[in-house]
Amino acid sequence: MKKTITDRTVDADILAYTVGDDPVLDLALVKWDCMGTAAHVTMLSEMKGLARPVVTKAEAAKVRATLASVVKSAAEGRFAIREDDQDVHMAVERVLTEKLGSLGKKIHTGRSRNDQVAVDTRLHMKDSILAVEGEICDLAAELCAFGAAAGPVPLVGRTHLQPAMPSTVEMWATGHAEMALDQVENLEAAYRLADLNPLGSAAGYGVPLPLDRTRTAKLLGFSRTIHNCFGASMARGECEAALLSAIAQLMAVLSRLAEDMILFSMPEFAYFKLPREYCTGSSIMPQKFNPDVLELIRSKAAQALGLQTAAISLLHAMPGGYNRDLQDCKLLYMKGLEIARTTLRILARVVKGMKVDADACRSAFTPGVFATDVALRLVAKGIPWRDAYHRVRDNLGMLDGEDPDSAVALKKHEGTCFGLDRALYRYRISAVRKSAGARRKALESCCRKLLG
Ligand code: ARG
Repeated sequence: MKKTITDRTVDADILAYTVGDDPVLDLALVKWDCMGTAAHVTMLSEMKGLARPVVTKAEAAKVRATLASVVKSAAEGRFAIREDDQDVHMAVERVLTEKLGSLGKKIHTGRSRNDQVAVDTRLHMKDSILAVEGEICDLAAELCAFGAAAGPVPLVGRTHLQPAMPSTVEMWATGHAEMALDQVENLEAAYRLADLNPLGSAAGYGVPLPLDRTRTAKLLGFSRTIHNCFGASMARGECEAALLSAIAQLMAVLSRLAEDMILFSMPEFAYFKLPREYCTGSSIMPQKFNPDVLELIRSKAAQALGLQTAAISLLHAMPGGYNRDLQDCKLLYMKGLEIARTTLRILARVVKGMKVDADACRSAFTPGVFATDVALRLVAKGIPWRDAYHRVRDNLGMLDGEDPDSAVALKKHEGTCFGLDRALYRYRISAVRKSAGARRKALESCCRKLLG
């Protein structure tokens, strides 16, 4: 039997099962928990119409200063969440009570861990989503640099994996960059959901105190408050599922990039050469340089989809109001974020180190790759497209090899080999960086105003 901070004596196994991974996972929430508590206590100290204040302004300032020292100790790795704390919320309350005595015991007035954890995770998600967006930009920039360095090196464009049409390495690279950048749209949808204030909903039904929820929304930098307290308690998992869905889609995009890199660096293709130091060897075959790191991205993409499925499965049959299942939803979204962030960082490094074998790219052009171009030359002579198509189709054996460099140079319209707008990619990358950077700064400034 173990005693917890709420003075309940609990069977040790039951406690361990219900606490789960919170003592470790919640370390990522210490700063956000302290920020939420600072906003709550500030708002409590400003509450009007009470016979006696819950906390005075001077007491609130004392709490905020102590919270700042908690954030500092956490940043230095000196803050521990004990199993009998259960989670970060109780651990912070314990420390505040140790340091401030009965003042520490007042901070939870008019609040529940249910709205508290929702605040923490939303602030954490906002900050993390913006970081992911920055990491997408880093990868997109590496892909664009890789493409620009290869310049107009021709690459066989494929459909069904079969040789299809003349393309270039840059078109391949910037195509993947654009796909990754477009994923910011999904992340932004998740961000907008995370950017709503649940604080003041307490356990999900409000409290008989004149809480000013608009005030805490402002202090914490949320775009607005979730109006209905019951709705606020239900929105927790939905917000995490939205983020996991954005992550699952992002990972699918990154996995396709990884798959192309695996394929095109196979000796049979040899278009690209992966940096050897990022490849792993075999315990028996001395010649091996394996792209394990890229294979694991495929596996992580599968896991990300599993996390999204797990989150929605966990939510779909849960009754209204808080249920402890939600604690596991936190584990799922944190795992998802870790997968997305490590994958983006690793991929950017592998792309940066990857080399192009221009000769291998050029010598892969078979006559068939030019078949469509030949038919289009017939069209230029006045032959209707379908007749030109059949003439080429019926005489495939007569196709000659052509110069791939000349072929790609003729493709100039928007978005094709010689019609790629490098400035457009630069602009999009810098726009995402600017917008994410400004919002991260604003969040940091809320934190600084509350915690000094
Ligand atoms: N660690 C808990 C969670 O993540 C905090 C909320 C606990 N609330 C409760 N009613 N038991 O969900």
